Amino acid sequence: MTPQSELELKKFVVPEFIFGSGSLDLAGRYARNFGLRKVLLVTDPGVRRAGWTERVSESLINAGISYEVFDRISPNPRAAEVMAGAEVYRATECQGIVAVGGGSPMDCAKGIGIVSSNRRSILSYEGVDQVLLPGPPLICIPTTAGSSADVSQFAIITDEREKRKIAIISKTLVPDISLLDPLPLTTMDAELTVDTGLDALCHAIEAYVSNASSPMTDLHALQAIHLLVSSLPDAVTAPDALSIRYRTMLGSLHAGLAFSNASLGAVHAMAHSLGGLLDLAHGRCNALLLEHVAAYNYDAAPERYDAIGRSLGAAPCGVGHDERRSHIQNTIASFRRSLGVGVTLSNLGVTGCDLSDLALRALNDPCMATNPRRPTHREVEMIYASAL
Ligand SMILES: [Fe+2]
Repeated sequence: MTPQSELELKKFVVPEFIFGSGSLDLAGRYARNFGLRKVLLVTDPGVRRAGWTERVSESLINAGISYEVFDRISPNPRAAEVMAGAEVYRATECQGIVAVGGGSPMDCAKGIGIVSSNRRSILSYEGVDQVLLPGPPLICIPTTAGSSADVSQFAIITDEREKRKIAIISKTLVPDISLLDPLPLTTMDAELTVDTGLDALCHAIEAYVSNASSPMTDLHALQAIHLLVSSLPDAVTAPDALSIRYRTMLGSLHAGLAFSNASLGAVHAMAHSLGGLLDLAHGRCNALLLEHVAAYNYDAAPERYDAIGRSLGAAPCGVGHDERRSHIQNTIASFRRSLGVGVTLSNLGVTGCDLSDLALRALNDPCMATNPRRPTHREVEMIYASAL
């Protein structure tokens, strides 16, 4: 990993956010502060069933804001869904967007905002800084503690024709305000809690070892690891405990601030490839890849991985390089298993025949650019193979 100079220029982008119990009910007040009279309420069927969309719509009604609901969104949001949402936005003359849900509704809402202002296919904005005009005002209300789309410069959209996920990275995607309330987390089941929580842990770890990390992102990444590792097991066993959900949400927030500015790495590049080709759950893919990427990356950033090992629990002192590499791999694997994630990529339907194509797509993902070690096609195939 390239040594960092304290004098090196680094940018840190962060949105305005309100963190804590009751922030959910401020949606209407902030929509009014932005001068909006009508908004597109972007959500998904599961969040609607849990009651959070209605809770936000009540806040809008109380503030005198009218709204149109758009909820035709898949777990891996597709380009066609973004374009359909943008058409609803245009046809119903909305002036802003309120997103309520996990990463999928929030990413879709960001896409709808881009298309509404820039008027081209969402797929044409792939990559870094390709969005010319900012979208309309965007208020994000996350109902999971994982994606951090509520604070990030990222939106991940599936190109269903090419069966791949595209990453759109732009400062224009940072929400105008995010309302981070731990209450909606209490309706997540154990599987969603673990998948989203491990996604957040991957964000923190990848940001910490990223070759675009900085002292500011390091601060948030390490705090995220500490908070997530100490609270996730309890969030599974005591799902209604608001104080624990508060800590997982805070952990996810720190992870989001870290990765939005330091970017990610091979875990996400490879998970995007799996999600695009085989439509697999993002958090689960990350969870199954993390320990194998750590073992591969270790030689490029040993001190950083040792620090992560200490945050995850005890790190061995005075042992050799190879033992320390095995230690971090085993520690991550046991944490994953302790949360009930015992499956492999094979269990999710991935086969050896998929690996070459998956590796090719992963190498072309923008997240690979900040991985501390640049892998070859063969090496990416081998990492996938070790997770089968
Ligand atoms: Fe992620």
